[in-house]
This record gives sequence, structure tokens and C-alpha cells, in this order.
Amino acid sequence: MLKAVKINMEYLEQPVGLGGIPWFGWILESDRKNVVQKSYQLQIADDLRFERILYDSGVVESEESVHVEVPWEKTEGQGIQIGEKGKAWREIQSCREYFVRVRVSDGVEESPYSDTASFVTGILDRSEWKADFITAEEETDSGKSGSTCLKKRISLDGEVESAWVCGTALGLYRLFINGEKAGEDEMTPGWTSYQKHLCYQTYDVTDLLKEGENVLEVMLGAGWYKGKMGFLLLRNNYGTRTAFLMQMTVRYRDGREETFVTDESWQGRPGPVTFSEIYDGEWYDARLESEEYESEGIGEAGRVAEGTPGRDAGEGQEKEGTARESENVGEWKKVSGIAFPKEALTAQPGSRVRKMEKLQAQKVILTPEKETVIDFGQNLTGWVHFQVQATRGCEIVLKCFETLDAQGNVYTANLRSAKQEIHYICKGGGPEEYHPLFTFMGFRYVQVLQWPGEVKAEDFSAFALYSQMEQTGTFQCSHPLVNRLQQNILWGLKGNFLDIPTDCPQRDERVGWTGDAQIFCRTACWLMNTYTFFRKWLKDVAADQTPEGGVPHVVPDIISGKEENDWLLSQGTHSAAAWADVAVINPWTMYLTFGDKTILEEQYESMRKWIDFMKEHSTDYIWNYRLQFGDWVALDAEEGSYFGATPNDLTCTAYFAYSTGLFVKIAKILDRQEDAARYDALHDRIVEKFRRTFFKEDGTMTAQTQTAHIVALYFDLVPEVFRAQTARRLTELLEKENGHLVTGFVGTPYFCHALSRNGYVKEAYDLLLKEDFPSWLYQVKMGATTVWEHWDGMKPDGTMWSPDMNSFNHYAYGAVGDWLYRVVLGMEIDEKDPGYHHSIISPQTGDAFDFAEGSYESVYGTLKVRWEKGETEDIRRLWITVPHNTTGEIRLEKGAGEIRADGLEFALKEGIPTARCGSGEWEIVYRKSLCI
Ligand code: BGC
Repeated sequence: MLKAVKINMEYLEQPVGLGGIPWFGWILESDRKNVVQKSYQLQIADDLRFERILYDSGVVESEESVHVEVPWEKTEGQGIQIGEKGKAWREIQSCREYFVRVRVSDGVEESPYSDTASFVTGILDRSEWKADFITAEEETDSGKSGSTCLKKRISLDGEVESAWVCGTALGLYRLFINGEKAGEDEMTPGWTSYQKHLCYQTYDVTDLLKEGENVLEVMLGAGWYKGKMGFLLLRNNYGTRTAFLMQMTVRYRDGREETFVTDESWQGRPGPVTFSEIYDGEWYDARLESEEYESEGIGEAGRVAEGTPGRDAGEGQEKEGTARESENVGEWKKVSGIAFPKEALTAQPGSRVRKMEKLQAQKVILTPEKETVIDFGQNLTGWVHFQVQATRGCEIVLKCFETLDAQGNVYTANLRSAKQEIHYICKGGGPEEYHPLFTFMGFRYVQVLQWPGEVKAEDFSAFALYSQMEQTGTFQCSHPLVNRLQQNILWGLKGNFLDIPTDCPQRDERVGWTGDAQIFCRTACWLMNTYTFFRKWLKDVAADQTPEGGVPHVVPDIISGKEENDWLLSQGTHSAAAWADVAVINPWTMYLTFGDKTILEEQYESMRKWIDFMKEHSTDYIWNYRLQFGDWVALDAEEGSYFGATPNDLTCTAYFAYSTGLFVKIAKILDRQEDAARYDALHDRIVEKFRRTFFKEDGTMTAQTQTAHIVALYFDLVPEVFRAQTARRLTELLEKENGHLVTGFVGTPYFCHALSRNGYVKEAYDLLLKEDFPSWLYQVKMGATTVWEHWDGMKPDGTMWSPDMNSFNHYAYGAVGDWLYRVVLGMEIDEKDPGYHHSIISPQTGDAFDFAEGSYESVYGTLKVRWEKGETEDIRRLWITVPHNTTGEIRLEKGAGEIRADGLEFALKEGIPTARCGSGEWEIVYRKSLCI
């Protein structure tokens, strides 16, 4: 039976708070093979029963099932109209839920209408914002990191049919209505280039309101906006006062509509979080909580202090290290307004940070140094949560950290100045529970420094916090260490996709290093649906570019203009090869993964400016510029240095060529032929120059490093006549190190690809499977549960790399995950028909695994591959599932013979047995021993 399922809007199911009319997509389900959609009919309605249809596409003859647009128009000041212009043009309103359904036909069957999906609009027209930012802080509070609470009582004179809140903050906010938290998001509104781009979130609050009196309350924290951030450790990076903005649209059953906004009629005062900083942790005094509402578990921790006696609100600097005794909250005072450019407000319909997983503490350890430590068994990013019963005023002190040292004692030196502490003062009188509210920690362990009574594992759990995304990739094989590596890579993503892609989540850094995000992007796109996440962050990449097009080292950029006294950054705060290329590579990767051109359109100017910047600062097509990170933390660096041995001229020019080449493809896709021709000519010149400069006449490379050979091969910069020789040389350079890599951020991601693409599949497997130092599996064998920043983060003798820079949760080297999906499973995107609309399936099975299997949840449905060794070592059985409405090309291993496959016809294509297939499940058996 044919069905349309999983209706999505811009790849999100049930998005809440869209800033415009989305494009639509759905997945076809059928028990037949070779299913191709012939037509669809899409309807949008105002009501669940589709009695008030706003738009009906009618039967549209089309195969399109993922980027289906409906006609709409936005007139400034008049909102959005949808439908057929002139005829049935209907208004789409802000803060309303709309319903969608679709039916499809594949020429054989007609599906029934799908289950109904819905989407909710945010504020569609800037002019509709009536709210102002309000604050309870004074200019003199710039050094404070405690919370403030803002409150307003409102009266509703009717039965509520629906109510939606759009809210955001300068700082971090948690909104409560009658004591209940609005929505499940945490750490809102996240971290963007606030003044240029500030996200607001939309929540359904219908069930939180009642007829009569209601209390709206919010607690604000310093967060990224005002707290100490960046490795310059500066505070007030965006402003000195936290502030809140919200607009609530209430629709009554009788048809009336009323809007409530933040304005100067609200009141404010300090709240129970007496100190909270991203790096240092949180100090919370539960005695300052509201008595007004009954406790209902953890939600209570976020509630606003109410009815507690007065505190001098103007009181001086935050005290670090101890929670203050006899803390009082002040009287409610008038708030003041803060000016902020409303143009910066942007809807955030998805990828909002949530408590995504809960892990129970595994055990309590007493270390040789007699430290009491709780072990969660997994390095993660988020919050420790505990329950306790203690007397009023009892203080609990915890410290979160990543690893024990070789002796099994607490090791916190790699946190640098980050404290990652919790200080909680109990209110007493019954069980209470808590997790932090305005900070997060990178940890596997928690040291219990103060606790009333016996420390029991069952009283502790941990929440993994990350941006909500659907997990799209799975991978498994017969090698347990590789499976653990795959888990570690996934945890690397979970730990570093907390609203922005960060380098690491634990030390006093946690910033959006562009290089790390570029390197890991392709792997991340296998693991989770990162579309909304990266689309939002790429806006900041563009927004924070220098006027000349330079791309900052970190985005959001909190370092430029403040770098004077920093030894490293004073050399440059933007435009490093492989880092800045995020501006081109990431949108391109999104396009490949989702087949979506919007992101290319949105980022086009940003990309072009970046290419122009490189061109402008190159000399005769060799580009290099101020501070470069090169092959960062490669092992061929000089003793004590972070900079690998591959010369900057080479890595810079290689990326200059690569990004320019991608940009040419992008210009063609967007039909910008003039740009395509112009940058194509530029690309030719860079490649030619690269070849002349970095290859000698005999075909050897001027730089005899692994990374030089990897990038030249992977970026197609090797003169064709020297290709075989260059690949062979790479294997020799590997052999020279006893089969070990010595590569850093630039070479590592492509190492296995550079080998397997050039006939060295076995060598690529051998590299992946090395178990001694340095290697991916060495970390796994050392007990890693995430991916490390350094190959030698923890050395074989148990000593550590310098605590100056030694993260145990850095996803960059996890970029090898891409090779597992693209080569071991052989799931490959066809650039000419991306988004898995046409997939190339060509597993390279090697001989090390008995089986490998995995899947990818594409926008068309699930693509699956499983292969295993057959009755004899040389037989391979292969099962492939191709999503409906897509096609595949199956390419077996070179030289494969004795092929058996029902319904598929294999023929040699470029010497490789190849068959085209439609959707459905396919099984193939072949003999591999004939491989050449
Ligand atoms: C970060 C890296 C980053 C690098 C750039 C480090 O401190 O943690 O991941 O890309 O600096 O040099």
C-alpha cells in the first residue's frame, strides 16, 4: 500500500515558530519496489478537520517530494498571503497553528491522505513586534552574574482557546506562567551575533493560562551575552545588562484576541541563582525560591523567588567560591527598557537546546587521594542533577570534570580557569532536587566536595544537553573497538552541538571555532539532521565576516577588536585556511546532504566575499595570511609546538583552490553563469600554480608530509601523471611512521579517503584499525568515551599532554566517521543529483570485518546497507535498501565476479561492475577474491 508519511517543513516535523511559509516534504512508504511519485496533492488548513482549507495545490504532476513550495507573498505591514494570487489569496497569521496533509500517486496506486501534520508561525512581520526589552539590572551591575527575575500579573477575561508566546533575551531566560515552565527548551535564546541576529522562540502556552489572574515570570542569567567568555576571558561581550522580551498572543473562545508584552509595567528583582557563568558553574540559594507555588520537582528550581524578605539589590560584586549566607531577595522594583534593533529578531523553529538524554550515575568512587567521585561512565555535556534532603542552609558543593589521572585521582588541570562547580544551598523541610539553569559542564565525573550524609549513586543523574536534532545515522560492524569509536564520535557531536558548534565543552573556551565545525561537518551530517542547526550558525558566519570578507576564527566572533594583549590572536583574528573555508564547505555540505539550494542562495554573498578575500591577499595565486593554524596539533610539529610541519603556503593554497572549485559548482547550480566562468578561470590558475609550486619536475612534492599528500590527493590538485606516484608516496610516508598517522586537523579527516580513493583500501583499513599510539583506536583502548583533541592527550604511560590545551571532548578527529559511512558502507551522494535523490552505493569491504551495517535517514527515507562475509572468506553478501522516490547506482568492488542479484543487471562501467536500481530492497552476492 502506498502512503505519504512524516510530513516535514524545512526538514522539521511539527515546527513551532516559523518566520515564513516553509517548503514541505514527505516520505513515501510502499511494499513495492521501484516506486516513483507521479503526482501529489497538498492541502493547508486552518483547522484539524480541513473544513477551512487555505490552500489546495490540486493534483500536481510532479516527482518532487522534498522541496515542495506553495505560492506565497509577503507585503511589509500586511503579513503573508498564501494561495493563488488574485483568486484565493488567504492570509496566514502570526502565532497560529496550521494543518497540512498530502496524498500522492505513483501511477500504480493512489495513497490516502497522510496523517495530519502542523506548523506554527512565529511573528511574521517585524511591525507586529510591540514588546520592548526590559531589565531589572543597572549599568553598575555589569560585573554581576546572578539572576534577576521579572514579573507581571495579567488578567484574562474569558476562556482561552489558544495562546502563544514569542520570547527572547539578552542573556539567558526561563519563562514561567503560573509557576510552570513554558516549553522544554534550555539555554535559550542560545548564542548568536546578538546585535545582528537574535533568535526568539515560540511556545504554546494555552494550557498554562486560566481565566482570571495569571502570573508571568521570567528568570534571566548572564550566559554568553554578558558573562565571561572566550580565551581572552572578557565579560560583557555583548552588553552589560540582561534583558527580556516577550509577546503573548491570547485568543479567546469568543473570537477576541489580546496581546501581552514586556514593558515598563513589569517588576524585577534578583533571583535565587546568585552566580552563574558558562565556565565557572552555578551558585543557587534555594531559600530564595518562591513560596507561592507548590513544588513539582525540578521545575521548581527555575521558579522565581516570591514573598521572601528584602535584599539590597545594588549590592556589590559577585563573590566567587562561597555562596552567601543569609541571602535575601529585594523588593519588586520597576524595570527599565533597553533599546535593541528589532531587525535582528529571527524566528527559531527548531534545533533548540533541550535535555536530550538522562544518564543515571553508575558508581561512587573513593580515589587514592580520598576524593569522593561520581562516575557517569560517559563523557558528556550538560548538567548533573541530584536529589537531597537536608536542613535549611546546608550547602552542597560539586565539581564536574572529565577524567581521572593515571593514579585514579581527580584531574581538573585541563579545565584551565573553568571551575565547573555547583554550590547549592538547601531550603530544607523535605526532599529537594536541582540541576543548573544557566550554565553547562563538560564532564564524566563529579567530585563531591560537600554533601550531607552518605553519597549514593542513585541520588545523582546527568542530563545531556544539546540542540534537538533527529539522529539520522547508524553504524555497526564486527569490530567492537570501531563500534565504540563510532559511539565516541556521536558523543562528540552531542557534547559540542549545544546551540553552536564548539571546539570543546569543558575548559574556558567552548567557542565556535570555525575550523572544527568545517572539519566535522560532513560527519555530523551523517549522524544527525543538522540542517536547521547549521543554517542558523552560518547566518552568524556571514554576519561576522569582516567588511572585506575575512571569516573570523570563531563565530560568533567575540575576539576581534579585543586581541591586543593576546600572544596568538594579536597576529590575527580571522581568515585562516581550513577554518575560514567553513563559509563555503559547510553550505556545500548542506546542499549535498539535503539537496537544498536555499542555503546556497542564503550564503552566496558570504562565500563569494571569502573567495575574493583570498584572491585579494594572494600573491600570484599563492595565498597565505597573517595567523594560520596550518595542520593544527599534528604530531610532526616541532617539540612543544601546535603547528604541524606542512607549510602554510601549501595548506592555504590547497584550500584556496578547493573552496574556489566548490564555489564554481555552486554558481553553476544557482545559474550564475558569469560568476561560474570567472571563478572557474581563477580556479584553473590556482591549481596550475599549486602544481608548479608544490610538485617538483620528477613528481615529488616539495613538502614530504602526510598532510601535504593527503590534501593534494583529496582536493584533486595532483597532476594526473603523478597521481599514482603521489598516492604511493603517501603509503611510504605512512610506512615510515610504522603505519601511524602524524597528521593534524587538516590532514586527518581525509587520510583514509586519500588512500581508499587511490587503490589503497587495505592501507586505509589498516590505518583505521591501528590500536597503538597514535591512532583512533588507541584512544578507545585507553577508555575514551568521546574523541580527544590530541592523539597523545593521554600518553601510553598515563601522563597527559600539557593541561594548557588538552580536551577529551573535541570532535575534530572524529571526522573519520565520514569514511565509515561513505567507504565502509559505501553510501555516497551523487553531486549531480544530491540529497540522496540518487545515491551511489559502493561498499569497500576490505578483509578486516565480518560484517558492517548502517543506515541513513535521508529526506526521502531510509537508505540502508549491510554486507557480510559469505560461506567462504571471499564471498560477500550485500543488502541494500533504497528509499522510495529515489534511485541508486550500485558499484561493486573492482574486479568482483560471479555476481548473483535478482532483478539487477550488472555491467562494467570504468572497469567496475555497476547496476542501476530503483527503490526497495536488493540483495547481491559476489565473489571478491577475483579483485585486482
Ligand atoms: C581550539 C581548537 C581550535 C584551535 C585553533 C584551540 O584552542 O580548541 O579546536 O580550532 O584553537 O587554533
